[in-house]
Amino acid sequence: MQNGQLFLNDHLVEADLLIIGSKIEKIGKNISSDGMFQTIDCSGLQISPGGIDPHVHLHLPTPAGFSADDFETGSKAAIAGGTTSLIDFVTPQRGQSIVEALQLRRQEVANSLCDVKLHVSPVEWTDQTEHEIIQCIKKEGIKSFKVYMAYQSTIGLKDEDIFKVMKVVGKHEGIVTMHCEVDSIIEKNRKQFLSEGKTAPKYHPLSRPNAVEAGAVKKAIELADKADCPLYIVHVSTHEALDHIHKAQSKGQPVYAETCPQYLLLEDSLYDQPFDQACKYVMSPPLRKKENRKALWQAIAEGIIQTVGTDHCPFTLDQKRMGLNDFTKIPNGAGGVEYRMSLLYTFGVLENRITLQKFVDVTSTNAAKIFGWYPQKGIIQEGSDADLVIWDPDAKQTITSKTHHQNCDLNIYEGLEVQGLPKYTYVTGTQMTRI
Ligand code: URP
Ligand code: ZN
Repeated sequence: MQNGQLFLNDHLVEADLLIIGSKIEKIGKNISSDGMFQTIDCSGLQISPGGIDPHVHLHLPTPAGFSADDFETGSKAAIAGGTTSLIDFVTPQRGQSIVEALQLRRQEVANSLCDVKLHVSPVEWTDQTEHEIIQCIKKEGIKSFKVYMAYQSTIGLKDEDIFKVMKVVGKHEGIVTMHCEVDSIIEKNRKQFLSEGKTAPKYHPLSRPNAVEAGAVKKAIELADKADCPLYIVHVSTHEALDHIHKAQSKGQPVYAETCPQYLLLEDSLYDQPFDQACKYVMSPPLRKKENRKALWQAIAEGIIQTVGTDHCPFTLDQKRMGLNDFTKIPNGAGGVEYRMSLLYTFGVLENRITLQKFVDVTSTNAAKIFGWYPQKGIIQEGSDADLVIWDPDAKQTITSKTHHQNCDLNIYEGLEVQGLPKYTYVTGTQMTRI
């Protein structure tokens, strides 16, 4: 690659880059290819590390069927948007061996065009759980374990079992990632609304107010502190949760936070629409009021939030209509893997909310560091994987489900214009796409 501006050592530098096989072989001025290698002229383009989305749910089984993207379609959409690595989940059935579920999930992952890591979710505590967690860490190369405070009737863990998971994971130098919502409050609110005939999508956010997240985040931080286990809180959406996280970080507790573009850009007034428009925003946690968005952007800028993932989990309108007469039956989730980086660039960097360095940190480098992929990924340097995005910083596109690569007829960012798009994306040395 010649004449491009490379994001090196926290800023843009003019340099050439040579890829051999899957790795970055050389970075420097005027690297001669001696006619042996294909050259790509990157004049006017910027080159950053490939994006790492630490939170996607591809081919996720739910009562409404599988989430609409599988590993093939989801990874294609990711690559189209400059994301070259994904971290998805292993969610066993209760009663199923965790290691067996991991092996089965790896067969599904084989269809991915991106590199994929997996977080493993213990969904119950049995005689085998400790042994299986240790086996995952020592033999299977798994570092992160996701537990749910929500969804108690299916995959959620009680606080005492979360503590047991944290003790084992902390002892063996892993990290627990946590979906923080207090299930008992949600269930009470849902029952109340349904008994009053309140069945529309707008009751979804009302059943999960800010306090539902904030209370769970506070609890999670206390448990992790007692268990001596690093904690990563997924999809943070409220300013109250940020306060708890900031307090813990200030005391030196290893607590990391992720948010998602939907919580940075969209708000809860979108639920006040007819079913077919409102249902696409049904996700957990729900969209929030405007003041939370401001706090989240600030928390990224100040380093309280380390990563921006997507929680990519799209469902089609047909699937969403399962909850036409009961908002609790609308499958939770929305797609976003394709536009995470362009949205962050447009509304973060170009609108001066975050620096370019912060953009690279939260879309790539920090996830690589937290989840054990650094410096193989998350940085442009000799010897690292050639996962690269060659950006056209001036290219513009209006987001629409009619042209996106995500396998879904809905897009929560429909009509938003983004500026800054990948012209080429390289996944471990292979050029995958071009706009
Ligand atoms: O609404 C969401 N987030 N769906 C995906 C599953 C989960 O809760 O993470
Ligand atoms: Zn999720």
